[in-house]
Amino acid sequence: MPYLSGLYYLHHSNQSRMAYHENNILAEVILQYPGTLQILERFGIPLGLGNDTIDVVCERHEVLPNLFTLVLNVSTFPEYVPQSGKSYDFIPQLLRYLSSSHRYFTEIKIPQVDDDVNRLILELGDNKARALSHLFKHYIAEVSEHIQYENETVFKYIQELYSCYQKQQLPDQSVSYHIGVYGAHHDDIESVLMDVKNILIRHIPQTEKGPLRRKILHQLFELERDLYSHTRLENEVLIPIVQHLEAEINPI
Ligand SMILES: [Fe+2]
Ligand SMILES: [Fe+2]
Repeated sequence: MPYLSGLYYLHHSNQSRMAYHENNILAEVILQYPGTLQILERFGIPLGLGNDTIDVVCERHEVLPNLFTLVLNVSTFPEYVPQSGKSYDFIPQLLRYLSSSHRYFTEIKIPQVDDDVNRLILELGDNKARALSHLFKHYIAEVSEHIQYENETVFKYIQELYSCYQKQQLPDQSVSYHIGVYGAHHDDIESVLMDVKNILIRHIPQTEKGPLRRKILHQLFELERDLYSHTRLENEVLIPIVQHLEAEINPI
């Protein structure tokens, strides 16, 4: 396969797609795509990487290199099509990764943006600013509910299913939940951010001084990208793996 700036060209469905590979030097990947830093943090991989490749670093920190590379590619390339098949061994680390992202969204990033939005609303103090406040509060409630359902219902169910698989046991027959329920109702949580951005860009005249609004907008763009990759991992990696596992454990 030919290299281009450290990237592989992958050929899938007659389309050329770019993707990182386990043989790439991780420090170089970070320099090309700084978003990798966030991925390292969520996998618990510290910096000081030397010239080690992805697979060497992952092995040192007991992270599955093929899962790491898949998460990296989904997060970097919107057109990348993840092929996880029956990679049941991804489940524990993928759930830890997604749970760590949940904590980051609800405990760090969204409260940070909320603080800045509240400061802006105080500075503006008019009806349009109050509409923004209302919309953002509604958004926070929606995200919290979404994440709570995933943590307490979906991820818990998947953990139990995976533990049955490891013990070669049948799941408790009283559990009527299945991953299709989640898939059918799994909304994205980034689209409301578009409304918040539009209010800030189109509808509230910039009468305040200083860079606060630009700072909020940059944070919203970053959060939106992060949430988009997160939802893709849930829809395109987690759900298909669990569907395979359900079929294997409990064939109809
Ligand atoms: Fe999630
Ligand atoms: Fe989700």
